[in-house]
Amino acid sequence: TVGPDVLDVAPLAKAGMFTFDPGFVATASTESKITYIDGTAGVLLHRGYTIQDLASKSDYLEVCFLLYYGYLPNAQQKAEFTNTIKHHTMVHESLTSFFDGFHHNAHPMAMLCGAVGALSAFYHDVMDIRDERDREIAAHRLVAKMPTLAAMCYKHSLGQPFMYPRNDLNYASNFLYMMFGTPCEQYEPNPAVARAMDRIFTLHADHEQNASTSTVRLAGSSGANPFACISAGIATLWGPAHGGANEAVLEMLNEIGDESRIDEFVARAKDPNDPFRLMGFGHRVYRNMDPRAAVLKESCDEVLKELGVEDEPLLRIARRLEEIALSDEYFVSRKLFPNVDFYSGIILKAIGIPTSMFTVIFALARTVGWISHWHEMISSPHKIGRPRQLYTGEDQRDFQPVEKR
Ligand code: ACO
Repeated sequence: TVGPDVLDVAPLAKAGMFTFDPGFVATASTESKITYIDGTAGVLLHRGYTIQDLASKSDYLEVCFLLYYGYLPNAQQKAEFTNTIKHHTMVHESLTSFFDGFHHNAHPMAMLCGAVGALSAFYHDVMDIRDERDREIAAHRLVAKMPTLAAMCYKHSLGQPFMYPRNDLNYASNFLYMMFGTPCEQYEPNPAVARAMDRIFTLHADHEQNASTSTVRLAGSSGANPFACISAGIATLWGPAHGGANEAVLEMLNEIGDESRIDEFVARAKDPNDPFRLMGFGHRVYRNMDPRAAVLKESCDEVLKELGVEDEPLLRIARRLEEIALSDEYFVSRKLFPNVDFYSGIILKAIGIPTSMFTVIFALARTVGWISHWHEMISSPHKIGRPRQLYTGEDQRDFQPVEKR
C-alpha cells in the first residue's frame, strides 16, 4: 500500500508509482481557469484575453477584477470595484509601529514580508476562508493595501514620514504619490509615468504556476490565513531567479559600468565554466519573446523619451546588451530573449524608483494573481499539497552510543 508513512520510496518510484520531476519542469500541480501560457508561441492569456489587449486597452484595476472574478466588469461594476479598493487603502495605524522595529537599511522585501504577514494578525478571527464573502474582502484588502505598504517600506528606508493614500488619484498615481510625495511640498504624479507604472502592474499581475504562486497555493492548501500565504509568496518572489531579477538587472548594469566592458561580461555569460548569467535574459517557460517583454519594450521607449533620459550611460549599456542578445548565436540558439524584468528594471530606474524597491513593485502587482489562485483553490475541492521525494540517503543502520563512534 502507498500511504504517507512509507519510508522507502525508491522501489515505488522504480515501479512508476510517482513521478520524479525536480524543478517541476513537466508537472502540472493543479487545474486552473485563470491564466494560459504557450511558451513556444509566446502567448499569454488572462481569462482568455491576450496580455497585449489588456496592456493597451485595459488598466490594472480592471485586470484585477478580471483575474479574481473571471470576467471583465461593465462600467458600473468597474466603478464599484474601484470605490471598494479605495475604501481599503489605509492600513491599521498600529501597523505603522511595526516599521519602527526594522533597521532603516533593511531590504524593503524583508519589511514587506513582515508587514503583509502581520496583516494576518489584524484579520484573523474575523476571517472564515470557507466563506466566499470573507475571501473577497481579503482580496480587496490586499489589492488596496499593497501600494500603501510598499510605499511605507520605501519611506521607512529614507526616514521620511509615511504618506496617507490619496483616494482622489488613480491606483498607480496614488502609489507614486505615496512614494515620492512629502508633507512639505505639493507633489503631482506625471500622468505618463503613472501610465507606465500601471502597465508594469498589469503585465506582472499573474503568470500561472510560477514559484511564488505555487508557494501561495501550497501554503494555502493547509487552510492557512491568506495574508500569511501571500507573505510566503513574497518571500519566494524575492530570489534573483524569480522576481529579484529586475533588481539583479540593474546591479549587473552598474557592475558593467561602461560600454567598453560589455564584451567581457557577454563572454563570461557564454563561458560554461563561469556561473555568471546575463540577468534579465531567458525564461523557464518562454522559448520565444515573452509577450510581456514585447509590450514593455514599447513602454520603455516611450518613458525614456518622455523623461529625456535615453542617453543615460546605464540605459545605453542595456540597449547594447539587448542588441547582442537578439543577434548573438549563443543567445539566439538558446532562445534567451530579454525578459519582462529586463525592461521593467530599465523603466523603473528611469522613473527614479530605487533598485531595492523593484521586487517590491513586482510583489505589489502580483498580489492579485496570488490571491486569485488562492481563491480558486479554496473554492473548489482540493487536497493539502504534499509532494513526495526520492530518498537517496542511508539505509536503516544501528545506533551507536557516543563513546563508540
Ligand atoms: N545568461 C547566459 N546563459 C543563460 C542564461 C542567461 N541569463 N539563461 C540561461 N542560460 C543558458 C544556460 O547556461 C544553458 O546553457 P547550456 O545549454 O549551454 O548549458 C541554457 O541557457 C539553458 O538554461 P537553463 O538553466 O536550462 O534554463 P532554465 O529554464 O532552467 O532557467 C532562468 C531560466 C532561471 C530564467 C535563466 O534563464 C536565468 O537564470 N536567467 C537570468 C535570471 C532572470 O532574468 N530571471 C528572470 C526570470 S523571469 C521572471 O521571473 C518574471
